[in-house]
Amino acid sequence: MASEIREMTIGDYEKICALWKVSEGVGLSDADSKEGIKRFLERNPDLSYVAVENGEIVGAALCGHDGRRGYIHHLSVAKSHRCHGIGRSLVGRCMFSLMRIGIGKTHLFIFGENQEAIDFWERVGYSQRVELVMMSQQVAK
Ligand SMILES: CC(C)(COP(=O)(O)OP(=O)(O)OC[C@H]1O[C@@H](n2cnc3c(N)ncnc32)[C@H](O)[C@@H]1OP(=O)(O)O)[C@@H](O)C(=O)NCCC(=O)NCCS
Repeated sequence: MASEIREMTIGDYEKICALWKVSEGVGLSDADSKEGIKRFLERNPDLSYVAVENGEIVGAALCGHDGRRGYIHHLSVAKSHRCHGIGRSLVGRCMFSLMRIGIGKTHLFIFGENQEAIDFWERVGYSQRVELVMMSQQVAK
């Protein structure tokens, strides 16, 4: 059975979290609490998607924007469902939805050692920005 792509809702949280937790290469933090994801989805309506097959979530992509650039986080496809185009479909839906609201460029973060993810993203049209370094600061717990 082919999977269906539909908008992610906060009602999906537990199942998506279970998928993220077993997906190598996905790093979760306190920002991924149920409250954090609820706020993200409210601020970014109709941009994040899940792939559903036989009622089960087999893929997920969290997508949003800051008004000028888009961002895709935590793209995951269940191991049992990889290499069937689900990742590409999820990314396509995210990119189309961003384009529809005028966001012309999207960034994402990948662990440097996650070569499989780098290969995937290159395959779907992304380019590595080797001139950039990511920096972060914690200002509140
Ligand atoms: C990366 C991931 C989302 C790919 O999902 P998928 O559904 O298997 O990918 P698709 O089947 O849509 O593949 C799309 C293209 O990428 C290629 N591709 C997919 N996985 C690949 C891999 N590990 N290495 C090289 N190419 C890969 C496919 O061959 C396909 O190419 P084609 O369409 O030109 O033939 C999935 O492997 C995954 O969940 N990985 C663990 C989590 C992770 O690392 N996420 C990224 C965090 S940013």
